[in-house]
Amino acid sequence: MLILGLETSCDETAAAIVRGGSEVLSSVVASQDDIHAEYRGVVPELASRAHAERVLPVVRRAAADAGIALRQVDAVAVGHRPGLIGSLLVGVSAAKGLAWGLGRPLVGVDHVQAHLYAGLLRAPGEAAPNGPVFPALGLVVSGGHTALYRCDSPVDATRLGATIDDAMGEAFDKAATILGLPYPGGPSIDLLARDGDDRAHEFPVSRLGRDSLDFSFSGLKTSLLYAVRGKPLPGGGFERDHTWLNESSKADLAASFQRAAVAAAIVKLERALDARTPYCSVLAGGGVTANERLRAELAGLCERRALALHMPPRKWCVDNAAMIAGLGCHLLAAGKVAGLELAAVPTTAC
Ligand code: KG4
Ligand code: ZN
Repeated sequence: MLILGLETSCDETAAAIVRGGSEVLSSVVASQDDIHAEYRGVVPELASRAHAERVLPVVRRAAADAGIALRQVDAVAVGHRPGLIGSLLVGVSAAKGLAWGLGRPLVGVDHVQAHLYAGLLRAPGEAAPNGPVFPALGLVVSGGHTALYRCDSPVDATRLGATIDDAMGEAFDKAATILGLPYPGGPSIDLLARDGDDRAHEFPVSRLGRDSLDFSFSGLKTSLLYAVRGKPLPGGGFERDHTWLNESSKADLAASFQRAAVAAAIVKLERALDARTPYCSVLAGGGVTANERLRAELAGLCERRALALHMPPRKWCVDNAAMIAGLGCHLLAAGKVAGLELAAVPTTAC
């Protein structure tokens, strides 16, 4: 079974060909970082325009890289929720046209659920996971979403908790802005934190209620803001801006922020695992799972708990279409085929 996947929910235009639900034959991602960098965030109108220009070349390239002709695909899967509506519409419309023109079924895929699935993708020739995967404890940490799930199959996720304010990636991005680091912020913090002392500042690790599986990052972000800019002044503004920071103090702040942010995620995973559901593995995905410290701590947690960790390589942590095609294959097998009336929807279903 060969699936063509399309992903245009935010600022990456992506297409991929996946065989048998997990073997990634090709994965092409056209990033728009250069377009949005001067605004330090995604400008929706510019994003949809760039998707419209790039989507068909990216699809053609994915087929060429996989060494197939598009008419060989068995279905077309598209990320149709959640995301920026104008961006989603470009991918959904392109997928409808391709499915109709090729005479193949169309499958609508939830982008958040696809991040959960990304750890089960593999390169051609790579071995499939050894042992049972489900039920799995799922963690998605991206720029738009941060949530924990109980996953009973690739197509069946029940949310256990979610952020009550910022998503984890959003907190990294805002922290980078506070520190005056380059866009995109998450990778900048990750890189700089490697040279910093992670104990230089004691930032708060959010726990919320004793049994809560929800997340919160706004207190941490405010603590960083005050550490950099001093106290808020009565008439508005702050005591100072970030220009007093030298490279070493920035690195210490980045490392201390990252330690607290990662600890806040690990606390919730520990709590969910203590709840005694007999999980076989942890599925972790989303852009922030590219973070070096989070990857190391997730690996440590799973080793302590004797659980398999299914976490994608960095290239499939951030937005890509391989995860859409992979999950699309399972949805197709479950009979979840969409008609040409498939809607683009800004919110997640899971
Ligand atoms: O999954 P993704 O590509 O897009 C969404 O679905 O939101 O995630 C993007 C987010 C951004 O907030 C970005 O700063 C963050 O993932 N990110 C990272 C790293 N790489 C990407 N955060 C921390 N460390 C990284 N290495
Ligand atoms: Zn994403």
